[in-house]
Amino acid sequence: MAAPTPTANHAQTAAWDGAEGAYWAANHDIFEAVLERYQPAFDRAAAIRPQHRVLDIGCGTGASTRAAATIAHRGHATGVDLSSRMIDVARGLAAREGLRNISFERADAQLHPFEPGHDVVISQTGAMFFDDPEAAFANLARSLRPAGRMILLTWQSADQQEWLDAFTLALTGRTPPQPPAGAPGPFSLSDPARVTALLERASFTAVELTAVRETTTYGRTVEQAHTFLRGLLGWMLADQEPARRAASLDALRATLATHATADGVRFESAAWLITATRS
Ligand SMILES: C[S@@+](CC[C@H](N)C(=O)[O-])C[C@H]1O[C@@H](n2cnc3c(N)ncnc32)[C@H](O)[C@@H]1O
Repeated sequence: MAAPTPTANHAQTAAWDGAEGAYWAANHDIFEAVLERYQPAFDRAAAIRPQHRVLDIGCGTGASTRAAATIAHRGHATGVDLSSRMIDVARGLAAREGLRNISFERADAQLHPFEPGHDVVISQTGAMFFDDPEAAFANLARSLRPAGRMILLTWQSADQQEWLDAFTLALTGRTPPQPPAGAPGPFSLSDPARVTALLERASFTAVELTAVRETTTYGRTVEQAHTFLRGLLGWMLADQEPARRAASLDALRATLATHATADGVRFESAAWLITATRS
């Protein structure tokens, strides 16, 4: 019998290997389009070469892993994620594209014993959820060859995100609360000084954060975006009476309509491209 997969991040595992991951898997086409405008800047920063061995952390349904495998066509790309459902979808999409130099593992990146010697570690909004980030990044450093590089796409602070403000205001009538500093979650790597100190303690050098602003997309049409976001953020309506809930959903539709473009429903966002080298 296979050994049980070691996990440290119990709350994150319950969410991502549970209902949240199932929702991402079922809506992979919309989720994969959210960050697509960041891909060119990410590719430039990652500078993956044809022979590279690449590890993609928190790969979700594998859009960034497939992009890496396409560039590293003489090498290999491995995607790692906590969610079994997303890993299943990732494998299917990679097979559909006919990619042979790609594999996926359901594992907790904080403590999984990765093979050493990777050239590049990448992650697109998948490395902000560790309950012990120092242990996790030290583990990722061990997966790299000496002078191997890590490239992360992470969110800048919550108050820089038009999408977060717009969705929260429409659904609750309030602006979003500031997340607790450093707690696992989408904004845990948003403070440049904290990120630099954290990665240096985990034996990375040359840590640099570059600000990038792009629009994020939530569906091709207002109706598609509304259905998608109602499923994703329905928990925000949990305390509301039916009439208030209907008004909140109308407010969301109105907000989405003001952001509809010929190229999908788009909101501004602000991210960091973080690059670091294993010492
Ligand atoms: C915000 S999603 C991003 C997914 C994907 N990179 C994308 O851009 O669509 C974060 C992902 O990180 C994964 N994740 C969170 N903590 C993890 C951990 N400790 N080890 C591996 N994956 C993790 C989650 O399962 C989830 O798929």
